[in-house]
Amino acid sequence: MIRGLTGDDAPRLAELELLLFSGDNPWSAADFRAEISQPYCIYLGIEHEGALVAYAGLAKMGPATDPEFEIHTIGVDPKMQRRGFARVLMEHLCAEADRFAGPIFLEVRTDNVPAINLYERFGFQTIGVRKRYYQPSGADAFTMVRPARLLEQAQQHEGDEL
Ligand SMILES: CC(C)(COP(=O)(O)OP(=O)(O)OC[C@H]1O[C@@H](n2cnc3c(N)ncnc32)[C@H](O)[C@@H]1OP(=O)(O)O)[C@@H](O)C(=O)NCCC(=O)NCCS
Repeated sequence: MIRGLTGDDAPRLAELELLLFSGDNPWSAADFRAEISQPYCIYLGIEHEGALVAYAGLAKMGPATDPEFEIHTIGVDPKMQRRGFARVLMEHLCAEADRFAGPIFLEVRTDNVPAINLYERFGFQTIGVRKRYYQPSGADAFTMVRPARLLEQAQQHEGDEL
């Protein structure tokens, strides 16, 4: 079941972050509460057998008539990976950006092959490297962008890519 997240989900989200991003300053429950309460953010999660197992957040930036988007986070419980949960979350977030024909930007560790593969499947391209972007690990990040598409074009592309 996919649903919108609220501040009440923050403790579980912080628990998942610790599992997934322990070396890179994982977000706390307070960080999640602050993010989710922002009107320009959309946070979605997937519940499986009563537990929240996957989450993702998208921020809408810039002018209302010509917005751009950023994926702020995405994570799947290590025990629940490779079941298509991230793909479902990405489909929803990309569809939201496509409603406004806005590009989506994100950063990803240069050694994070699973995430890079996921993003490439959704049409993201690498456009730069940010040195020592992640702390305290000091790992580099790729900046990736999925160029703006209209919803109909996006559905056509996704049919080609997935
Ligand atoms: C990246 C992540 C979100 C993927 O979640 P997931 O639910 O396992 O991914 P899905 O099952 O939906 O897979 C979708 C696609 O992602 C890619 N992918 C996912 N896991 C992969 C892996 N271990 N190795 C290579 N490619 C992988 C594949 O292209 C896959 O498509 P396929 O199954 O048809 O090959 C998950 O590995 C994760 O939570 N990682 C830790 C947190 C993280 O790094 N988040 C991204 C921060 S930028």
